[in-house]
Amino acid sequence: MEEDLMPDSFDSFVENLQQRIFDETREAFGEAGFQRWRNPLYRGPLDAPDSHARVKGTCGDTMQIFLKLENDRVCEAAYLTDGCGSSTICGSFAAEMAIGKNPDELMEITGEAILERIGRFPEEDRHCAFLAAETLQEALSRYMVKTVKNV
Ligand code: FES
Repeated sequence: MEEDLMPDSFDSFVENLQQRIFDETREAFGEAGFQRWRNPLYRGPLDAPDSHARVKGTCGDTMQIFLKLENDRVCEAAYLTDGCGSSTICGSFAAEMAIGKNPDELMEITGEAILERIGRFPEEDRHCAFLAAETLQEALSRYMVKTVKNV
């Protein structure tokens, strides 16, 4: 009888724990951030990108952004990070926001813009959005340098 009870109680322990983590994450990042944490879209790398940048933040984490452009607009974007859940959410939104943009529009993707897009973000992790934006801007500037050299 006890054997039958064990898996059940363990399962419900895990379920409760998972629910608590989900509730806390939703509370910290809002619904958009929570959904992205569960399903981090645009995770890289991208093969043969037109530009790629890797920036290490002051926290020690690394962010990478990959861009492919067609007719001077981003047709594919992806991120990679070895950082926390917050940097994953920010990298994913930075990549999403880059898609369809031309270089002028890409310049408008700042850390503040990423935070605004997510909607809610823990104060202590806001630097993750600035790292994602800085990496995106670095990828853009590399693309611009390459483009100018090829003219
Ligand atoms: Fe370092 Fe998020 S990027 S803590």
